[in-house]
Amino acid sequence: MNKLTTVAHTLTAADRQAHYGHAGAVLWLTGLSGAGKSSLAMNLEHALTKLGYSCYVLDGDNVRRGLNANLGFSHEGRTENIRRVGEVASLFADAGLICIAAFISPYRADRARARACCRQTFHEIHVAADLATCETRDPKGLYKEARAGQIQEFTGISAPYEAPEQAECVVNSASETLAVSTEKLIFYVLANLPLTRNA
Ligand code: ADX
Repeated sequence: MNKLTTVAHTLTAADRQAHYGHAGAVLWLTGLSGAGKSSLAMNLEHALTKLGYSCYVLDGDNVRRGLNANLGFSHEGRTENIRRVGEVASLFADAGLICIAAFISPYRADRARARACCRQTFHEIHVAADLATCETRDPKGLYKEARAGQIQEFTGISAPYEAPEQAECVVNSASETLAVSTEKLIFYVLANLPLTRNA
């Protein structure tokens, strides 16, 4: 049996909010590969930082090169990927930062667990684009490889994507430009995570 004792911080959430000028939060971007999650996340990080927020992007392709380099794309691999990222994102939010997490995170149960881990700091954002649009874009050529059978368990082709049913925010990245989707998310943040002091 684990013998662990929680070590209490002496800094409170209010101390951190006073320091950063906003509450910590997790903006969890979910959607198909090619929906625009990474571009949106990076744009948002840039824009929010300019406005005075302290934020950082956790991106699937990046995190899978380091922390999660030992995980694949089976159901189990993805579940563990999202479990770890949920924990890390929760730590970012605890630290007082805005964590923008951009992961396909195709399984509802995995996103629900990340939400539970991050508690009230979690905001689910569906970057919604239909498969045909993502496949036409195919920015990394992966859909082509998946269709050719060169990549197994590819989301949308040979592995499922369970769309959110009650996301806090939806951006329609197939019909909107990246600039419009980014602006929507900036307004969402300004309305829901307002700055509590001027930058
Ligand atoms: S998740 O399903 O576990 O959430 P994650 O967001 O970390 O996925 O990683 C997705 C990225 O991995 C894609 O953008 C793509 O570049 C790459 N990738 C490689 N193989 C696959 C696959 N089988 N399915 C989906 N994405 C894949």
